[in-house]
Amino acid sequence: MSNSSNSTQSSSSNSSNNSSDTAITITSTIVGGIVLVVIAYLIIRCVQRIKTQKLNSYVRSFTSRGEEFLESNSPPIEDTQYLSMTTESILGIATIESFLEELQNEKPIRLTPQHLKEFTNNFSEQLGSGGFGVAYKGRFPNGVYVAVKVLKMTRKRDAEGQFMAEVSTIGRTYHINLVRLYGFCFDPQLKALVYEFMENGSLDRYLFDPKRTIEWAKLYEIALGTAKGIRYLHEECQRRIIHYDIKPANVLLDAGFSPKVADFGLAKLCNVDVSRVTNTGGRGTPGYAAPELWLPLPVSFKCDVYSYGMLLFEIIGGRKNLEFDREESQEWFPNWVWRMHEEGKMSIVRSACGIGEVHGEKVERMCKVALWCVQYKPDGRPSMSNVVRMLEGEEEIDEPPNPFQYLTADGIGLHVESSSSSSITITSSCSSVATLS
Ligand SMILES: Nc1ncnc2c1ncn2[C@@H]1O[C@H](COP(=O)(O)OP(=O)(O)OP(=O)(O)O)[C@@H](O)[C@H]1O
Ligand SMILES: [Mg+2]
Repeated sequence: MSNSSNSTQSSSSNSSNNSSDTAITITSTIVGGIVLVVIAYLIIRCVQRIKTQKLNSYVRSFTSRGEEFLESNSPPIEDTQYLSMTTESILGIATIESFLEELQNEKPIRLTPQHLKEFTNNFSEQLGSGGFGVAYKGRFPNGVYVAVKVLKMTRKRDAEGQFMAEVSTIGRTYHINLVRLYGFCFDPQLKALVYEFMENGSLDRYLFDPKRTIEWAKLYEIALGTAKGIRYLHEECQRRIIHYDIKPANVLLDAGFSPKVADFGLAKLCNVDVSRVTNTGGRGTPGYAAPELWLPLPVSFKCDVYSYGMLLFEIIGGRKNLEFDREESQEWFPNWVWRMHEEGKMSIVRSACGIGEVHGEKVERMCKVALWCVQYKPDGRPSMSNVVRMLEGEEEIDEPPNPFQYLTADGIGLHVESSSSSSITITSSCSSVATLS
């Protein structure tokens, strides 16, 4: 009897243990679930807050720009396609995601001729002119200075799509060493581009004016920054952009003398003939244009590498490679550098250029890179990322072959054998020589 009562007690205590285990399991599952839900909720809130903060700061910066534009419009804008990035269009975007996408695809603002007239005070201050048109100084209503480049082009209205495509390519390039495009105007009377204003103008002003000087260490930084800007155009942006007109006038300097490459994408935008090398712009400029631009040879992005090499020579020499008023007895600077290199006399280059001994290693590196860049055959030239690494000393620089083998002194001019059986004689202006005083 007592046995049976014991067994009844133990079975009831077992069943109570089981039910308390089950209760604990259920409770811990519920608590665990709640904790997970709370954590997930907090993560989502956190992500949303970050996105909202990002959005707010962008809206603030962009709307102030949009509002200023709207305030300044007199007479009021009738054509709503202008000023596509106004306050309304920004606030009209439905979701944070689509707005962030817009942010990534930020486009240049479309402006009317009337806007440009107001911003430039009726085109009163000219900055300079080149093959593509005339540049004017201007100011947005929010006080930001701009450069307005009025393009010399006669595109018909139906070419608007192509113009827009090129502008959107240019407008999508963001790099510290490239001039930003803020806006554009495509109108039957006026085609123009609006760029950020560069306080110190173009590099040619400093290289070729003995009264203005930049210390050599800064010039080296300018050379490196310019190479990085071109590297971005060739290798890093969504669609490769060949500049076709790298030269000191197209390297602009900001308030701190940091370089930014200007006028990229313009050759395509203005539909310039690839085979044309002109004094006033077009594809390439004498003295900087690669041989394939004036010989019947295929043209590739390597033509920019050649022009960059010529720019390096000018930075080293502190003068134009091509000086039209130079005496004939003087030697063309790049060829002289080659000769010095061949004879192992690079220190002469440095001292003749008035560069301090402390910079000897950098000067030698720059000379070698320049000699590689101006190789006659495009395939023999390095890519711009190689150029950057070589300049920074991250890559060994092999001994360059003679880049000027194809040039043979021939009286006043130079005789050039082209790869197609024809031969071309360059006139004295193109073979113009320079020497160091
Ligand atoms: N964004 C800018 N900020 C400040 N100055 C500028 C700007 N863009 C151009 N300039 C000035 O205007 C001058 C003329 O520029 P432009 O591009 O019209 O001619 P270029 O560079 O000499 O020739 P190309 O047409 O072959 O580029 C430049 O040399 C520079 O001094
Ligand atoms: Mg220019």
